[in-house]
Amino acid sequence: MEQKTLLLIKPNATRKNKIGSILKIVEDNGFVIDQLKMFTMDNELADIFYAEHIVKSFYPQLKSFMLSGKIVGAVLSREDAILKLRELVGNTNYEKAALGTIRFLFADSFTENAVHASDSPESAEREMSLIFPE
Ligand code: CMP
Repeated sequence: MEQKTLLLIKPNATRKNKIGSILKIVEDNGFVIDQLKMFTMDNELADIFYAEHIVKSFYPQLKSFMLSGKIVGAVLSREDAILKLRELVGNTNYEKAALGTIRFLFADSFTENAVHASDSPESAEREMSLIFPE
């Protein structure tokens, strides 16, 4: 089934000039970039976007990292986009990310894991509308 999902390229990856490298991997794996923008997150957006993580011990670190630099947001489409992008991105814990995945290649730590990818159809809808409200 044709689906859309959200990819965020996080501040550690934009700081290292890896936007092009990551988007090339995504396009080479059959995804079409439907929407694309560069932005910075503020407090309010971080708290809404990561609402399920606010209570977690790692949240202060995650939030300060997500506010620390430029982010690229992309709406991507392809067959089974949500699952296929999660596979391409690799495990959230970069130390467990499979060879060749985006996090294997570009993550610096558990928090600074280079990218975010929506994990379900509900999350994809919610996250796409937060990042691309228009
Ligand atoms: P992401 O896919 O953006 O979803 C939530 C983010 O929180 C995750 O990637 C990591 O950046 C971060 N995260 C999740 N679990 C941990 C953890 N145990 N320690 C530090 N950061 C975490």
